[in-house]
Amino acid sequence: MKNKSENTVPNILITGANGQLGSSIATLADSSDARFFFTDVAELDITDAKAVDAYITEHKIDILINCAAYTNVDKAEDDEKTAELLNAKAPAILAKACKKHKVFMIHISTDYVFGGGRRTIPYKESDPAKPTGVYGVTKLQGEKNVELALDEAVSAGKHPGYLIFRTAWLYSEYGKNFVKTMLSLMADRQELNVVFDQVGTPTYAGDLARVVYDSALKAANGEITAKECGVYNFTDEGVCSWYDFSVAIEELSREKRGKFCNVRPCHSDEFPSKVCRPSYSVLDKSKVKKTFGADVPYWRVSLRKCLDNLLG
Ligand SMILES: NC(=O)c1ccc[n+]([C@@H]2O[C@H](COP(=O)([O-])OP(=O)(O)OC[C@H]3O[C@@H](n4cnc5c(N)ncnc54)[C@H](OP(=O)(O)O)[C@@H]3O)[C@@H](O)[C@H]2O)c1
Repeated sequence: MKNKSENTVPNILITGANGQLGSSIATLADSSDARFFFTDVAELDITDAKAVDAYITEHKIDILINCAAYTNVDKAEDDEKTAELLNAKAPAILAKACKKHKVFMIHISTDYVFGGGRRTIPYKESDPAKPTGVYGVTKLQGEKNVELALDEAVSAGKHPGYLIFRTAWLYSEYGKNFVKTMLSLMADRQELNVVFDQVGTPTYAGDLARVVYDSALKAANGEITAKECGVYNFTDEGVCSWYDFSVAIEELSREKRGKFCNVRPCHSDEFPSKVCRPSYSVLDKSKVKKTFGADVPYWRVSLRKCLDNLLG
């Protein structure tokens, strides 16, 4: 890939950089030769097409990693307009700017593009998407908008390319997430009910950050072919329910804090919600392993790493 900066160091723009994934990428960037531009809404609003264009031009961006999104799944049901703006329209704005300036784009999507249903086999990238709520619908539209803007130019050899990583159940040391919520509830309560009838894979944002970061550097070296561009699943390895995840958080944190909390399984209908969450959203990672040799840690191993960082 041709570098736009004066020297050979690639310029990599991160949008939504204050979130979980953006913050996790920042921890890797220190040891890199690449030049990173970490922006959140205050520095670069991804819904502002003129600002996006100007930023890419001014900083001679080679690679854009979009970590920004509307991620509050429940709130999205009542705030469809904002969810659509951030999850569907903004990726189109970014992709069009990437096309114009020949910037390699990395975008993040979700297991919620699949509805779950009665499925018991992990989803491949090629399985038909069928989202059930506003979050999933708008995220799927975002994927399509990126593809629509870039596919033709990439196939014709006129654009360096793009990748879309679908992930799930993201947690980290940063921001709000399930692990941090559970730790705080478990510190206060003797007992907790957690649903056992929704199954997926917890994913440490640090693991996703590693794959995104490595692929950005590969793209900078022109090592991602047009054929390799497209959608990839990435979660950690293994399968569990939210209940199993919570039990693991309780066991591992008890080793450190000595405080016991009785985690009990319950059905989803005990927590009424406007959103119909997928009952099964396990993703098949064969493609990302085969194409990029991605390291996919087992979810419990990564959970321990995150808890070590959070609890010392
Ligand atoms: N979290 C999960 O469990 C999960 C699961 C599957 C897929 N994903 C996907 O993974 C990606 C990263 O998720 P995450 O958990 O790291 O998200 P996050 O923590 O919610 O971070 C998103 C960041 O984007 C910022 N942002 C909001 N509006 C913006 C705008 N107009 N311009 C620029 N930045 C803006 C947010 O700022 P504010 O906080 O101020 O709004 C926040 O800092 C997203 O695409 C998400 O859909 C997440």
